Amino acid sequence: MGYSSLTKEIRNGSNSGKKVKKNEMKEMKCQKRTRIIIKSRFAANILKYGKGKHMKQLTEKQKEQIEVLLKEMTIEEKLGQMNQISPSIVGGFDVSFEELIEMMTDGRISKEEFGRMMAGAKQDYHDDVNRAGGLSSVLISDPEVANQLQKIAVEETRLGIPLLFGFDVIHGFRTVVPIALAEAGTFEMDLIEKTGRIAAKESRAVGIAWHFAPMVDISRDARWGRISEGPGEDPYLASAFAAARVRGLQNDEEDSNNEVAACLKHYAAYGACESGRDYNTTGMALSMLHNTYLAPFKAAVEEGAVTVMAAFNDLNGIPCTVNKYLLRDILKDMYGFEGFVVSDANAIKECVVHGIAEDETEAAAKAMAAGMDMDMGTWIYSRKLKEAVETGKADISDIDDAVRRILSIKMRLGLFDHPYVTQEQMHRYDTLPQEHIAHALETAEKSIVLLKNEGVLPLEKSANISLVGALADMPEEVLGSWAIGGRAKDCVTIYQGLQNAGAAVSYHPCCGPEGELDEAQVRMAVEAGDVIVAVVGELASMSGEASSRADISLPGRQQEMLKMLLESGKPVVALLMNGRPLALSWEKEHLPAMVECWHLGIQMGNAVAHVLFGEVNPSGKLTCTFPAVTGQCPMYYNAPKTGRPGSKSKFTSRYLDAPVEPLYPFGYGLSYTEFTYSDMDVQETKEHLQVRVLLKNTGSRDGAEVVQLYMQDVCASIVRPVKELKGFAKQYLKAGESKTVTIMLPKYQMGFYDDQARYHLEDGRFILYIGGNSKDCLSQEVYVRFEITG
Ligand code: BGC
Repeated sequence: MGYSSLTKEIRNGSNSGKKVKKNEMKEMKCQKRTRIIIKSRFAANILKYGKGKHMKQLTEKQKEQIEVLLKEMTIEEKLGQMNQISPSIVGGFDVSFEELIEMMTDGRISKEEFGRMMAGAKQDYHDDVNRAGGLSSVLISDPEVANQLQKIAVEETRLGIPLLFGFDVIHGFRTVVPIALAEAGTFEMDLIEKTGRIAAKESRAVGIAWHFAPMVDISRDARWGRISEGPGEDPYLASAFAAARVRGLQNDEEDSNNEVAACLKHYAAYGACESGRDYNTTGMALSMLHNTYLAPFKAAVEEGAVTVMAAFNDLNGIPCTVNKYLLRDILKDMYGFEGFVVSDANAIKECVVHGIAEDETEAAAKAMAAGMDMDMGTWIYSRKLKEAVETGKADISDIDDAVRRILSIKMRLGLFDHPYVTQEQMHRYDTLPQEHIAHALETAEKSIVLLKNEGVLPLEKSANISLVGALADMPEEVLGSWAIGGRAKDCVTIYQGLQNAGAAVSYHPCCGPEGELDEAQVRMAVEAGDVIVAVVGELASMSGEASSRADISLPGRQQEMLKMLLESGKPVVALLMNGRPLALSWEKEHLPAMVECWHLGIQMGNAVAHVLFGEVNPSGKLTCTFPAVTGQCPMYYNAPKTGRPGSKSKFTSRYLDAPVEPLYPFGYGLSYTEFTYSDMDVQETKEHLQVRVLLKNTGSRDGAEVVQLYMQDVCASIVRPVKELKGFAKQYLKAGESKTVTIMLPKYQMGFYDDQARYHLEDGRFILYIGGNSKDCLSQEVYVRFEITG
């Protein structure tokens, strides 16, 4: 049996593209619904992504080499291979590193003081432990130090197993591109793949062969700071993003020595932490888990991703770190994942704090039994697992399995043959190649989302611009969260971008996301220009890890600044620079133009200038719903259907003091031109529904539109979403041009998982929607019968 053998039947004259007539509907309802249920392993493979062929496979000789090593290794050396560490900070101050961070967080010392202390602190790389074969992986980005540590591992340890250097390279290493939340909004998988390939090259040149990325957590709660790191709220888009990024990282056809190991994180459902508060508990039905939160992980495993990081949170009462269902049953058994799993930083130790393990030995034993192969940062495996084996709490065969997995990835990466980086390599990207800069510019331009435009944009080049907002000229803020490899010297701020474009611009910082509002400066800004461009939003540090916000309106006094600017009567364009959706009801109501620029990476300023002056027509779309007020969070378009959908009437799913609708829906984004949709048509092919629509550029500028196909399963054995994205196509059209856009929906993708991870394809009515965002669509209802032949 296979999905390829499914045949279908579309009732109600889908070939004519007409809607269902009432009498036909009645007939349909009487029909008995057939269900096809596909179990476990087969279900894992039904939504095929890649071929899993990236990165060299092990040769027979290498497999033997691993077995020989395993036989020779002492238990201490095996546990050493399961030990991932960061260098420890030592000395220079009287308190612990943790307390120092606390002091900075609560303001006892400033960020600058903290920075100075860190710069003066010594790092301990644990050379003696390394020499004894006690280290496997180090989180580091300095190639000189990496070479020294590698020399010890390769030349001074008994078995000469190389170290694997890992680093958080989330949206570019040196060539920092837009945060993933923005980049996914390009809907261009080739670009997303290329970002991975460039990042891999640049980081491998300094010895980093393992990226703690891609981060593919679905998040529907804008309060969660880490929403910035991932591709947004939709499982279909996130799956495509995850697979593309893995292809980029793990596949370099020109030189496999440029490839790095991807690490899918955070497995799983970290983005669903209760109330958007980081590290908080997560609970959900397993059908929701499989249909939504696991989708990108599964896609990326199918694409060949070789490592996975478990999440901090508990899922339905069991921390992911020790969650056998997630790690063994689903990932390793059902998906057939052959790489290794690493914990998140300190997470094994935190199982004691979770209250799921009495002590560190029990935490180690539980993690091992669950399928956790490598310990990040706690040293618990190397210090406690031996005791756990001796007392029968852990199984040596689990340890062997973990070590085999880890060694095989080190071998596939070529580390046994090329453990070091040369001086030439480590300085290769001291200056960024033009090709990388051009890629950063293109992704940034295509990630920009035009939210509102009442005829103000694009601006004339000759316009006299007053640029306001501290964010407009803070180089490192363009990088966004988690961009540790980014360098200020490569960053172009919005102010610089406008100057590069030859604009007539005067700059007035006035107010930033933090701190005071300089009213005198605002008055000067108003006087200085004919049009005011206000850059407002969040500092990079306001999103990312440990950066949840309980109020997602504009932080600080920025709204006050906008009010003062508007009082001048001059046109005010808001350029938003933020790492999450913001609640901008007031801004939407009062400002004539708003552009979502996100944190766009090193080329931010140039990209924004090109859009402002119309050299680039914006085509980015939102990858997450923008709520009207924070209290609507979590808010997402593909919510399960309630029995009482929100409406104007009282006893429906709504708030008394907030609209039912979001501020901006998923998939939304305007253009300087206009697109119209007509002539929707659904045809059947053997294995697909073929959906066509006539797209017309009715405006006066050339532009690109992301055509989106959604589906609703009208009636099924479990509650299904209001709408689900099922395909997209980005179409470029010249002014006045029209084209028929076709999107193929594979019938096997019309099903869903139940609570036992069984995949269902159920006959019945489906509504297909096609349009330029998740709200404004043409629709057509069809009846689909899934049949198994052969
Ligand atoms: C984060 C991970 C990251 C790790 C190593 C953790 O705090 O949750 O995403 O990869 O640190 O830096």
